[in-house]
Amino acid sequence: MNTIEAIQQRRATKSFDASHKMSAEEQKALLNIALQNAPSAFNLQHWRPLLVNDPAQREKIREAAWGQAQVTDASMLVVLCGDLSSWESQVKNIWGAAAEPVQQYMFSAIDQYYRGKAQTQRDEVMRSSGIFAQTLMLAAKAQGYDSCPMDGFDFDAVGKIINKPEHYQIGLMVAIGKGTSQPYPRIGKLPFDDIVKVDRF
Ligand SMILES: Cc1cc2nc3c(=O)[nH]c(=O)nc-3n(C[C@H](O)[C@H](O)[C@H](O)COP(=O)(O)O)c2cc1C
Repeated sequence: MNTIEAIQQRRATKSFDASHKMSAEEQKALLNIALQNAPSAFNLQHWRPLLVNDPAQREKIREAAWGQAQVTDASMLVVLCGDLSSWESQVKNIWGAAAEPVQQYMFSAIDQYYRGKAQTQRDEVMRSSGIFAQTLMLAAKAQGYDSCPMDGFDFDAVGKIINKPEHYQIGLMVAIGKGTSQPYPRIGKLPFDDIVKVDRF
């Protein structure tokens, strides 16, 4: 499957084969594709995916997700969080091995971009989460899996269930597994010329 085919064949899957199990290695390998290759601003890798394997945790999350079956039936459930403080806490780990002038440039640029800017810190987590999620879903598709991106849940309730640290923000969840039904044909796509403008809005 090439990239365009993976993009075209990825659909938000509503029902998964609950009996299909993915090994820990398979889950890890899939996550690693996104961890190693998804882009992030300043390479700060804001994402902090939480893999939820415990059936009891899945049940609780499902309750907080208005009963959506994907949460319990998927072979893999990721609550995709991001670290709002990655720009400060990880900058030396990420850029510390670069040449001295590059380090100095990055430290200063990153500090100016994020310090004291709560909205920017949050926006960045959301951008990184979105890109990470799509990378993960396309990788899953390429490996014969279906997926569903999800934000239909009570964020505060899920935060409590997963014991989310204060400085983490939930972006969305991604369920991955073997779909059991054919997706509906794609509908309602907005016309190109209504959506895409050139040079100025
Ligand atoms: C951020 C986000 C949140 C979503 N939340 C849910 C969800 O909670 N439950 C669900 O069944 N689908 C969810 N979807 C899937 C969308 O409904 C779906 O992507 C859209 O209808 C287009 O269909 P397609 O992905 O099959 O092309 C979500 C999609 C995105 C991007």
